Amino acid sequence: MLSRLVVLLVLAAVAVEALVHVKLQKKPTMASQMRRAGQRYTYTANKYGSRVGDDPVTITDYMNAEYFGPISVGSPAQTFQVIYDTGSSNLWVPSSQCSNCGSKAKYQSTSSSTYQKNGTVFKIMYGSGPVSGFFSADTAALGSASITKQLFAEVTDVSGLGMAYSVGKFDGIAGMAWPRISVNNVPPLFFNALSQGIITSPVFAFYLSGSDGTSGEMDLGGIDSKHYTGALSYVPLTNETYWVTNMDSMAVGSNAGVTSVKRIVLDSGTSLLAGPTADVQKIAALVGAQPFFLNPKEYTVDCSKVSSLPDITFTIGGQAYVIHPQDYVINDEGLICLFGMVALDIPAPAGPLWILGDVFMRKYYTVFDVGQKRLGFAPAA
Ligand SMILES: *[C@@H]1O[C@H](CO)[C@@H](O)[C@H](O)[C@H]1NC(C)=O
Ligand SMILES: *[C@@H]1O[C@H](CO)[C@@H](O)[C@H](O)[C@H]1NC(C)=O
Repeated sequence: MLSRLVVLLVLAAVAVEALVHVKLQKKPTMASQMRRAGQRYTYTANKYGSRVGDDPVTITDYMNAEYFGPISVGSPAQTFQVIYDTGSSNLWVPSSQCSNCGSKAKYQSTSSSTYQKNGTVFKIMYGSGPVSGFFSADTAALGSASITKQLFAEVTDVSGLGMAYSVGKFDGIAGMAWPRISVNNVPPLFFNALSQGIITSPVFAFYLSGSDGTSGEMDLGGIDSKHYTGALSYVPLTNETYWVTNMDSMAVGSNAGVTSVKRIVLDSGTSLLAGPTADVQKIAALVGAQPFFLNPKEYTVDCSKVSSLPDITFTIGGQAYVIHPQDYVINDEGLICLFGMVALDIPAPAGPLWILGDVFMRKYYTVFDVGQKRLGFAPAA
């Protein structure tokens, strides 16, 4: 009896240990910094599969990423701040051989005893140019999870990211989407963690509602019941590419059916909600938002009227997920009140679609269930 109890206690301890927490920090987006500096900037949809020339484009829009967390690469550990991005699948960090990475942290392979040369060219096209480098393999650690022989890109040229990257607070990207959209079919971090048995439960989740308003957490290998209230509701994925599914409908106040586009992608690497231009124009009119002079794809609202604006409701898998105006209006340090929805037309085959970024994920703890190929939501606590 006692031995059985001990076994149970040990199992319980292992189960707790198995949940890996990665603390995330919220920083103003690059778009926000450029807005404050009165500079024009553009949104690009390239992350969702448009093409530049013959090259499929896999990343771009980190202008709008707000949450960063640490990852360490190499032995001893070299630490980088990365965007944990559920909208892409590769890990990349600046290389010590990077000519234009400015003051970013840079990976030095010669300082790592676990470095393994690969050398395959890595290249992704950005609207304004390439981000390129080469693949290397090394140990990568997320919180207490240490993944060996992780292939990642050492980036040597970030010219395609332009000024947006230099003013951004992140060094690189850690992609959390599916292998099918990984450049060169490199196994993504989380999938390697599973195949190496470092994480046993094939699920991760994002909590972006830290009580101080500037922090969050990514939970790997489990779901942290402290972070939500009520029960999780799940919907099946419609493809193993992005974290993509369908919603039933979207309503603005009592106006149901404001869009006929049902495809949604849960994207931790995008700060706002984004959808087809014609629909966003219609919705902006319904909430009384005005086009923003620095960027016609964005809208502003009168800060004094926020409390009287309608709710926006996404119905997914029969459940209503309500976003109140206090949650979808971004008060940018009192400077402007930005409507948290931007016009972004994603071409086929990935689009047209809606991106549910941090505005949605702050409100709802979001579970990315690799094992059961589904997404789960519950109100964040
Ligand atoms: C580099 O990694 C790729 C996977 O992207 C693999 O196919 C290739 O064989 C590796 N090359 C070397 C030299 O290890
Ligand atoms: C899944 O995505 C791939 C790649 O974008 C696409 O070719 C395929 O048609 C999609 N499948 C479904 C069922 O949407």
